[in-house]
Amino acid sequence: MTIHKKLTIGLFGYGVVGEAVFQVVEQTPSLAAQVKKICIKNPHKERNLDAAWFTTQKNELLEDEDINVIIEVIDDAEASFEIVQESLLRGKAVISANKKMVAENLLALIELQQRTGTPLLYESACCASIPVLRNLEEYYDNDLLRGIEGIINGSTNFILSQIFDEKLSYSDALGLAQCRGFAESDPSLDVQGLDAVNKLCILLTHAYGVLVRPDELLYHGIERLNPGDRQVAVAEGAQIKLVAQAVKQDDGSVAAFVLPQFVKPAHLLHRVREEYNGVVISSTLADEQFFYGKGAGGFPTASAILSDLSALRYDYRYEYKKLLLQRPSELKSDALLNVYVSFDDWEKLPADAFEEIHEYYSGRQFHYRKGVVSQKKLLKSNWWKQPGVSLILLEEGVVKTSPIKQLSRQLAEAEAVPA
Ligand code: HSE
Repeated sequence: MTIHKKLTIGLFGYGVVGEAVFQVVEQTPSLAAQVKKICIKNPHKERNLDAAWFTTQKNELLEDEDINVIIEVIDDAEASFEIVQESLLRGKAVISANKKMVAENLLALIELQQRTGTPLLYESACCASIPVLRNLEEYYDNDLLRGIEGIINGSTNFILSQIFDEKLSYSDALGLAQCRGFAESDPSLDVQGLDAVNKLCILLTHAYGVLVRPDELLYHGIERLNPGDRQVAVAEGAQIKLVAQAVKQDDGSVAAFVLPQFVKPAHLLHRVREEYNGVVISSTLADEQFFYGKGAGGFPTASAILSDLSALRYDYRYEYKKLLLQRPSELKSDALLNVYVSFDDWEKLPADAFEEIHEYYSGRQFHYRKGVVSQKKLLKSNWWKQPGVSLILLEEGVVKTSPIKQLSRQLAEAEAVPA
């Protein structure tokens, strides 16, 4: 689709982000863009605009021939998918901030864009104001990209900062994140790590051409952290962060997961506080590069949406280069991980939880072990998700194994599979 000079926008959603988008579009005349109508769910909510701007009928926007761009910032992933499909089929370019919708439907969305020739952009869905997707798509060559490590959920980072720096309780910190408008309407998406794993799926497609559903990846949030974990972290001079990772292995495959992690001051992510996000991209030639910025909130999200709007003007679309034009990397889930596990009751720790144990502590109602666990075994079990059990990645996350050790482990795992 060729976008003519004027961008006429149909806006879905007028929450924290929708309001910021409206304001910014109105105040940026250089964009030559204009919101024509806003579709909302609840017409009775008090809003700061005349009622004539709003409708509850999605077709008023979708059937309007003047509207050539749909901006979709609602928080219902199913409704969002319907809007995006209908818009693309009608030849309207779409900008979406809905990471859940994109992550869960990426294959269908790619096919639809190819079929209709109409673009869908979603820079704001990953790390809000940080332009990480377009950089991964355009700049980093697949073979050179060694790994991505990121704090990609602002709410959990805000909560952890409040717990570590301000000594707030978990529930007070969560309440504050909700008040500030960073958290999802259902904050369990943030604290259980789902929001981060949705974003990681999107990053994996643009970084490595990997298409994976969020529920296929290993992920864990911050709601199971034990109070004792903070003390352990402080004693070791570390912070606990929720980190998403995609790590290229020696055999060319990629290991990917979202886990709480001990992060020491020398690590670039250590300085990422409050609702900020940070992404460290490691490449063979350039070594480490660090992207840092606000990852949640109305205006930071609106800034990425604005950038997508101007990209539409020059007909920018994702080519999904790593997936469609290069050989995609293989996603493997057989990494060995260096972890710390704390628990309040020995009964909760299975005898075969660890492959190796390097350190342990036992107190009255707080015990921990540090050692090596298998990613594959974690994916097949639930013991580490129980209340009272907290699993945190150590800073040296993925264990580097020699090819011979790796082969013998794979053979042992294959033999252990019941016939
Ligand atoms: N709830 C999300 C976060 C909003 O905290 O990162 C931005 O995606």
